Amino acid sequence: MIIMSNETLSVNEQGHLTIGGADTTDLAAQYGTPLYVYDETAVRSAVRSFKASIDENYGGRGMVCYASKAFCCKEMCRIMAEEGAGLDTVSGGEIYTALAAGFPADRIYFTSNNKFDEEIAYAIDNRIRCIVCDNIEELYRISSIAVSKGAQINVMLRLKPGVEAHTFEAVMTGQIDSKFGFAIETGEALEAARKAASLDGIKLVGVHCHIGSQIHDISPFEKAAEVMLDFIAKLRDEGIIISDLSLGGGFGIKYTDKDIPVPYGEYMKRVSAKVKECCAAHGIDVPYITIEPGRSIAAPAGITLYTVGSRKIIPGIRTYIGIDGGMPDNPRYALYKSEYTAEVANKADAPKDEIVTIAGRTCESGDLIGENMPLQHAEAGDIVAILATGAYNYSMASHYNRVPNAAVVMVKDGQSRVIVRRETWEDVARNDV
Ligand code: LLP
Repeated sequence: MIIMSNETLSVNEQGHLTIGGADTTDLAAQYGTPLYVYDETAVRSAVRSFKASIDENYGGRGMVCYASKAFCCKEMCRIMAEEGAGLDTVSGGEIYTALAAGFPADRIYFTSNNKFDEEIAYAIDNRIRCIVCDNIEELYRISSIAVSKGAQINVMLRLKPGVEAHTFEAVMTGQIDSKFGFAIETGEALEAARKAASLDGIKLVGVHCHIGSQIHDISPFEKAAEVMLDFIAKLRDEGIIISDLSLGGGFGIKYTDKDIPVPYGEYMKRVSAKVKECCAAHGIDVPYITIEPGRSIAAPAGITLYTVGSRKIIPGIRTYIGIDGGMPDNPRYALYKSEYTAEVANKADAPKDEIVTIAGRTCESGDLIGENMPLQHAEAGDIVAILATGAYNYSMASHYNRVPNAAVVMVKDGQSRVIVRRETWEDVARNDV
């Protein structure tokens, strides 16, 4: 019954869903629900396959920079450090988490569309590898903060390559009407590059793009690489030499049977070929490449477990399965109508003979995990697992209705450990005065 035919998820002799060799019903009993559970082996093997594809197709001249916005906590940073990955961070909080976990600063990139002075100063003080600059005001601020500290910081410029990727609107980022980065078409990017090359405190090393998220097609990535290399060549003509190119993240994963993801190796194969072809055509050196997968590393490795509290049948309309979590731990259906696959963890070998709406616990009709979801017969006390929730679930959690954040457990070879403790009601009221 399990759609994810991978080594992460399976069904044991009792008909229970397992993750990383651990019985999910045991995990629910031991740690309580809602519970995020990750398979460490799946996380590591995703990073390794991206890395292997860079080695194979691009002679190892690049780095996998995990986009920590997908799921950031100290243990995740430790795992990335051990895997030799870089980290694409988006806030002082993510940089802080990484450094507190002992993540090497010289593999941290800082990419956001509005960095505060304290964050820039913090990044420079801690000698992170590179700041990815979003706009001209920010460029001046990075320069003056670096100069005031007698420092020099590597900078990449975030560009809008003007490429449309087929994904949902809220996560499209590469087109001209986007809040992220400098536009190439308007000349804004060229002006910024000239400025960056001349400002003190800054070393312009690269250009960066990220065209969107949950993309299942390789051609927009190839197109973006082409546009970026044309721009690098243009800068070369002006005497500005760019050594680094970031192609961002965005690789799609399988949430339901409707999604057909491209194998990671295939992406790097085609994009590397495009990069080399463009470099040869322009007579420029092949750049050092970084890619920033977030979802594709974290999402398939994670599931969320809930306890069913109620079963509410509205005759002729629908059946609601009420669970003990929802929008506070997974806002993605409410935000994007994102679809998921659900399993009754303690009946995972039974047929999915019902179509249900899984309803969250908060005071809001839109708090749903999904509608029209095929599911085994679920009743109060059953454990429901939602699959592929490892990215943008914990990291987008809220305290709506003062619901404490769920715990996160990491499983490896059947052994489990807490990596983020469950919050308590006291935690939720901790900063109240
Ligand atoms: N690099 C940059 C600059 C990004 O903005 C992002 C994601 C990534 C890398 C990682 O992209 P990924 O490989 O995870 O697709 N909250 C939304 C996703 C927002 C993605 C934002 N940027 C969701 O839940 O689907």
